Amino acid sequence: MSGGSDSLRRVSNPTGTHVPPTADAQDSGAVRAWWQDAVFYQIYPRSFADGNGDGTGDLAGVRDRVGYLRDLGVDAIWLSPFYRSPMADGGYDVSDPCDVDPIFGTLTDFDEMLAACHAAGLRVTVDLVPNHLSDQHPWFQAALRAGPGSRERERFIFRDGRGPDGDEPPNNWPSQFGGSAWKRVPDGQWYLHIFAPEQPDLNWDNPEVPAEFDRVMRFWLDRGVDGFRVDVAHGMAKPAGLPDMDMELVRSQATVMPTSADLRWDRDHVHDYMRGFRRTLEDYDGDRMAVGEVWVADDARWAAYVRSDELNLAFNFKLIESEWGADEFRAAIDTSMAAMRAVGATSSWVLSNHDVVRHVSRYGGGEIGARRARAAALVQLSLPGAVYLYNGDELGLANVELPDEALQDPIWERSGHADRGRDGGRVPLPWSGERPPFGFSNGSRSWLPMPPEWSKLSVQAQLADPGSTLNFYRHLLGIRRQTPQLHTDSFEWIDSPAGSLSFRRGNSFVVVLNTGPAPVSLPMGDVVASSGPVDGDLLPTDTAVWLRD
Ligand code: NOJ
Repeated sequence: MSGGSDSLRRVSNPTGTHVPPTADAQDSGAVRAWWQDAVFYQIYPRSFADGNGDGTGDLAGVRDRVGYLRDLGVDAIWLSPFYRSPMADGGYDVSDPCDVDPIFGTLTDFDEMLAACHAAGLRVTVDLVPNHLSDQHPWFQAALRAGPGSRERERFIFRDGRGPDGDEPPNNWPSQFGGSAWKRVPDGQWYLHIFAPEQPDLNWDNPEVPAEFDRVMRFWLDRGVDGFRVDVAHGMAKPAGLPDMDMELVRSQATVMPTSADLRWDRDHVHDYMRGFRRTLEDYDGDRMAVGEVWVADDARWAAYVRSDELNLAFNFKLIESEWGADEFRAAIDTSMAAMRAVGATSSWVLSNHDVVRHVSRYGGGEIGARRARAAALVQLSLPGAVYLYNGDELGLANVELPDEALQDPIWERSGHADRGRDGGRVPLPWSGERPPFGFSNGSRSWLPMPPEWSKLSVQAQLADPGSTLNFYRHLLGIRRQTPQLHTDSFEWIDSPAGSLSFRRGNSFVVVLNTGPAPVSLPMGDVVASSGPVDGDLLPTDTAVWLRD
């Protein structure tokens, strides 16, 4: 692969937003915290690696694969919940946030995994699930026993029902997983569950609740974790009086990102809770951090979660929401960087996670989806800020069409089988061998079935193939680590032909992505990485390159 000979045309970008290049933070002597340009690798524990042969991934499996993560070249991991849980929502229904569920191991396994990660130079961040608990948590069990008006019920959101017999829910809010957000208990009261009925929402207006989460955070910080991912950060505050919402208005807005019409999310006093998390983190040394899961349509309101005394990062879902296309990507990059810059915060970039359809599938699946996914990864890994990879991104995994009987996501049942839920993106990773479970487990099965054709995508198969997606990621991550320009805020759009985008990082690092139907001429420079074959000076469709000019 060689560089092209056309000269660069440097003008402000076609979207009209001019982003002035900024001085290299390193040059200016500014100190960046480790997380500001870290590559985080999300481990969905059930699906990463099974250490005890029962078909479900666990902490011993993570510990045994630390070498893989180090060689991949990521800086940190984010572990989705491994806490005690009846697993009504894949562990996001926590019955003891300070213990490990037996299916994932023990606290000793956690400590060993943490030590192994730290010894390999990897930071460890864990999920914090503050919006709700499991209905099996002792607090909720006590609330059920204690009855209406009790202090125990005040930790949750219990209300009397409407209608003459109180047999209608207290308001019209829907659950995120389908049906009403309220469930009635035998004494006639109702409790709020924005997710599954097994996940009662907590009442953050009750000081006992923030105090408990301060304790939970300290429990893990004292053990040595480097930070948290805050689940449903935007849902923790509820409006006074819990009024009905205008469902017609909410539906008419037809956006996956909640707007202010949806009263379940993004109430102003949520920021008090974010500040509380920050205060706890700042009691510790080592730049401990928190990233929020914040789904909010309005950019300024989204950015408010990462003001200087709140969370450190907020997931940026704009690339997840974008259709495949240079214009769409440019708009996503521009708007999210502008929002973060307005509050002096660091950007983050996400293509997939355990809640969405994997990006190979979103981009069309098959060969075309895989090609586009590699090009998108190259862009993702060259943007200023933190990057979140989802386990399996580096293998080019697509969503799997699972049989009905395999589905476990509560969305499948709650939606009356209208929505197949998120299991298709949670299938365990293929590690080695010719047959399922492909070294994921020493046993004979995996908690979700793995497609036989994944033998070609196993880690073992891809390590042996220089052109594999895994080796591509390893190459990109190696270059990213060694390229000072990529560890600064410097970013400048470069004019590029229709259907493509191009930007510069620092003085000499240039990125070009072509999503148009025809090849585009490459600017001058040496190709240091490309997501697919480059045809001389021409960048083929659905391909991206890194150049040094
Ligand atoms: C967001 C998590 O990512 C998702 O998996 C979970 O179902 C909900 N929050 C509820 O905790």
